[in-house]
Amino acid sequence: MLLAPVEEFLNTLAKVGWAVMPMSLSAEEGLHLKSECTASHADGAFRRAGVGRGNSLQIREDIRRDEVMWIEPGEASAPRTLYLASLEILRLALNERFFLGLFNYEGHFAIYPQGAFYKAHLDRHAGTQDRIITVILYLNEGWKSGDGGELKIWTSADGQDGGYELIEPRMGTMVCFMAGDFWHEVLPATKQRASITGWFRQRP
Ligand code: OGA
Ligand code: MN
Repeated sequence: MLLAPVEEFLNTLAKVGWAVMPMSLSAEEGLHLKSECTASHADGAFRRAGVGRGNSLQIREDIRRDEVMWIEPGEASAPRTLYLASLEILRLALNERFFLGLFNYEGHFAIYPQGAFYKAHLDRHAGTQDRIITVILYLNEGWKSGDGGELKIWTSADGQDGGYELIEPRMGTMVCFMAGDFWHEVLPATKQRASITGWFRQRP
């Protein structure tokens, strides 16, 4: 269940195109998701993340070094189902407010091993327009300043010329931004970093 005032979050998203919600879920929900994430990772259920999609999907160690496991809604565990239900509330609120016609969500757990990064990019694949809003939930309890792993997001939709913000990947922090407009990157961390990244989509 989303805890923080969703209204305020949506206002910011509407105004500037990105928004952060520091305590989006209960600590218990966050910890359940985190333990599923690390258990599945230990079981070998994650795959090296690629760049591009379909036939042009490639593993590019120079661009990104995270490992991912997609969430399959049909076979999701209780914690995942609960998180998907929160996202469904957010999706409906976004549609009601902005008439975006978002019709579903696709998302994956991500683990960045120590030192892993994801260089600056936009979240929209070449030739596609279906990913409208990126939504990321961080799952790192006890994260401290100095641990690295920040999301660096350039805060103007004009690209990488303007200013940027650094967002620490602390447990329960949720970030949303317009997927096709905001350049962003993941900085390397001194320890493993866990998250769930996904996208609200329009019909392709
Ligand atoms: C991504 C991404 C950012 C983050 O997976 O596309 O940019 O902070 N993730 O994990
Ligand atoms: Mn991204």
